[in-house]
Amino acid sequence: MAVSAIITGTGLYTPPNAISNDELVASYNAWAQSENAKNSVAIEAGEKESIPESSSAFIEKASGIRSRYVMDKEGVLNPERMIPRIPERADEEMSVQCEMALSAAKEALDKAGVEPGDIDFLVVGCSNLQRAYPAISIEIQHYLGTSGYAYDMNVACSSATFAIKTAADAILSGSAKRVLVLNPEITSAHLNFRDRDSHFIFGDACTAVVIEASDIASEKEGFDIIGCKLWTQFSSNIRNNFGFLNRADESGEGNTDKLFVQNGRKVFKEVCPQVASIITGHLDELRLSSDQLTRLWLHQANLSMNQLIARRVLGKDPEAGQAPVILDEYANTSSAGSVIAFHKYSADLSAGDYGVICSFGAGYSIGSVMVKKR
Ligand code: COA
Repeated sequence: MAVSAIITGTGLYTPPNAISNDELVASYNAWAQSENAKNSVAIEAGEKESIPESSSAFIEKASGIRSRYVMDKEGVLNPERMIPRIPERADEEMSVQCEMALSAAKEALDKAGVEPGDIDFLVVGCSNLQRAYPAISIEIQHYLGTSGYAYDMNVACSSATFAIKTAADAILSGSAKRVLVLNPEITSAHLNFRDRDSHFIFGDACTAVVIEASDIASEKEGFDIIGCKLWTQFSSNIRNNFGFLNRADESGEGNTDKLFVQNGRKVFKEVCPQVASIITGHLDELRLSSDQLTRLWLHQANLSMNQLIARRVLGKDPEAGQAPVILDEYANTSSAGSVIAFHKYSADLSAGDYGVICSFGAGYSIGSVMVKKR
């Protein structure tokens, strides 16, 4: 019988510090007021525009976000700084992303009943890697004690679903038997907390997924991966120009394009219909109808976006809990979002139920992972 891939465990690391919209807005407004006071003469002379204030009511209405978790709260909320304070570590110390990933990994391995040494492929997929090399995944392999090989990949917000496909392919081809997928996202460090349009968007978290070959995990509970579909199309509507060539042109160093920048309206309009069409096409290919979809674990960027996508896919409003929301508490945790939703809201499914884990974001990129409860 052909080997298939099974998700047998998931884990989540949530940073200890939460920031409410009110706290974030108070910090932004304190900074805006101080900038406006500094520039009052030029503003009054009409030579400079005053910086408008942010508002919690707008944030919740436009995005559905109420709070977010961050690796460092003080640095983010300090109006003089508005950047997380994450001290550099010596080469002999564990990196921050490794530390986050170990915590999520241990939970996922426990759930799957798998020892670290039994993992023969470890893949890290996330939007921002904290250094160029050595790979974060290889560092995690060392500290966790997994065997085989490891590598990092980055497909922005779609990194987790693309990594799950990479893991499933490795199992189907026989390259690996047990794969650990990790998504350590420190999005607070790429976010411009002085940009009113986006300062509220992101939060930090790390997710972990254990995927095993059916010939060694046939007795286990979990979710059969019945198909993965990936889609990409170039767009600059979500962009971050940070990179190793920055120092080769000093004139651009420190500019805001070296952080997350987006045209949120365009993203909303262009991505929603495409996501709905990818999921619908994926269901067709698998000869499933949308009526058979018990759950949609969607990327967590914007509540209205998810409601729209779920409505288009299902042809009706989703039932309560059918498209679970975690962005109210976590904000957009980039690639971790759809996996957090899956981690928190999948235990109640019955054997035979279908669901889709779907992420979307910069690139553009969309990943659809169709699963069936065992
Ligand atoms: N506080 C108060 N008002 C604000 C504000 C803030 N923080 N930010 C923007 N506004 C104002 C704008 O100035 C604008 O005012 P105007 O109508 O007087 O010009 C108004 O609110 C609407 O701004 P807009 O940027 O068009 O908001 P939006 O409804 O598009 O919502 C997003 C913004 C970012 C929440 C939304 O576009 C979005 O989530 N898009 C998808 C993003 C996404 O999925 N990205 C993927 C990232 S991986």
